[in-house]
Amino acid sequence: MVEVRILLPYFYTPGGYPLKVIAFVASPRKQGNTDTLVTSFLQGAQDRGAETEKIYLYDCTINSCQGCYRNCWLGPGDCTRFHDDMNHLIPAMITSDLILFASPVYMASYSSQLSVFFERCIPVHHVDLERKIIVGNRLKGKNAVMALVHDSPNPATADLPFRSLEHTLQNNFQMNIVGKLHVPGVRDKGDIAHKPECLREAFLLAEKLCYQP
Ligand SMILES: Cc1cc2nc3c(=O)[nH]c(=O)nc-3n(C[C@H](O)[C@H](O)[C@H](O)COP(=O)(O)O)c2cc1C
Repeated sequence: MVEVRILLPYFYTPGGYPLKVIAFVASPRKQGNTDTLVTSFLQGAQDRGAETEKIYLYDCTINSCQGCYRNCWLGPGDCTRFHDDMNHLIPAMITSDLILFASPVYMASYSSQLSVFFERCIPVHHVDLERKIIVGNRLKGKNAVMALVHDSPNPATADLPFRSLEHTLQNNFQMNIVGKLHVPGVRDKGDIAHKPECLREAFLLAEKLCYQP
């Protein structure tokens, strides 16, 4: 069973240039359920002529945020403590038109690697520390799709992680959530292949989101 919900009317870019779509796979399993769902989504985007990039977060070197609160927020720059793959991942997001965040449910949440990644995204904010206000946000208004897969057949399993994901994308990063994919009842690698309707839904969602008249 798949749940696809378009939370906002689909968008299009009237300029006619190829849309850039990136997808983060937040599962360590290549060709697992998350990865396969992402592949279908990106195929739908490619079908519309979009340029696509798939990023395996577990292949990336992402050091954990140390909470120093200083260097990253003082200007619209990068973390000055670590020079790791975040130096490429943040610009990749900023220059994209649509971002898919896809994760398995791990311990009633999204995966820890996605959490580490989100924590290291705080340099997208430019903060006035004296007035304690965000004066710039390089992800603001960016279109995002969230996707979760999990073992339990109970769809409510994803309620909490979806709420958390939604809060992070919408409230922390002020992104527009334009779609949601949800696949319960998949555990082993290849399980999602027995749910072709889920893969089709992912494909069609991307096609719809990447439509340019
Ligand atoms: C460490 C770990 C924790 C998990 N926690 C949950 C969970 O809380 N609820 C659930 O339904 N499935 C849970 N699962 C199952 C995965 O969500 C499921 O196997 C999923 O299909 C894995 O996706 P992948 O093939 O993309 O890696 C967990 C799996 C692992 C390895």
